Amino acid sequence: MTELKKLEGATAIVTAAGQGLGEEIAKILAREGARVALVDINNQELQRVQSDIAAFGGTAMGFICNVTRSTEVTAMVQAVMSNYSTVDILVNVAGGFTQFAPITEIEEEEWDRVITLNLKSAFLCTKAVAKIMMDQRKGRIISIASGAGVGPRTHAPSYLPYGAAKAGLIGFGKLLARDLGEFGITVNTVTPGTTLTPRVRKVRDAASIEKIKMQNPMRSLVEPQDTAEAVLFLASPAARYITGVNLNVSAGNLIV
Ligand SMILES: NC(=O)c1ccc[n+]([C@@H]2O[C@H](COP(=O)([O-])OP(=O)(O)OC[C@H]3O[C@@H](n4cnc5c(N)ncnc54)[C@H](O)[C@@H]3O)[C@@H](O)[C@H]2O)c1
Repeated sequence: MTELKKLEGATAIVTAAGQGLGEEIAKILAREGARVALVDINNQELQRVQSDIAAFGGTAMGFICNVTRSTEVTAMVQAVMSNYSTVDILVNVAGGFTQFAPITEIEEEEWDRVITLNLKSAFLCTKAVAKIMMDQRKGRIISIASGAGVGPRTHAPSYLPYGAAKAGLIGFGKLLARDLGEFGITVNTVTPGTTLTPRVRKVRDAASIEKIKMQNPMRSLVEPQDTAEAVLFLASPAARYITGVNLNVSAGNLIV
């Protein structure tokens, strides 16, 4: 007997799917039967992830799109609709930061850049799929936030514009959950603990990573797979009435 997959027949858009958490999330959704639109600015990585998914029998297609630009986002969603006719799941993963600096050294352009990548991108992508989901009266919107958006941690520095953007993303999810609930759409955020993705390996040194690990109540770092499993749960039928939630996947790094 073939096992029933959790997302059979669903279409998912995953931003920043070219590496790191986005790649892992795209793969887990594809393994569960979703047709996945892989969105990234890095075409080479998109091709690699698409081939990996094809290799295990999944369905995925790469879409080159800078999610901070509304015209590109609109065109991307139109292209996804032309190929798959529906959008059932949106996972806003694009985000991150590349430096630490005190407020006195953060230029206005840098503030705008980080807020745009981490917060405006989610607004643009969500806006572009909202009407589709409202018309079909179902949908799942999941955004990847960060502990920095919940509050400061004593054992690890956070970056101000990044934390501000992620706090905004959590608030965005909660308000939108209220507005879109009547259309059968759930809106949630997932907050991963520090995870050794290619970007994090560049911004945090080994000593700081070890400190985070040893000060986590569970003495462990989370893996990309842990965050991907949480996203899969929120996208699955089992979570149909879970909305407006920020789910921490942090080995206890963040207990609120
Ligand atoms: N890794 C962690 O420890 C951690 C912890 C908490 C939250 N997060 C969040 O998870 C998300 C992914 O983080 P990561 O560490 O996997 O990142 P990453 O840097 O490893 O991967 C990011 C991907 O996004 C793509 N990208 C960058 N700008 C883009 C744009 N404008 N449009 C489309 N694609 C773009 C890149 O090409 C890359 O493939 C981010 O939102 C980050 O804030 C990560």
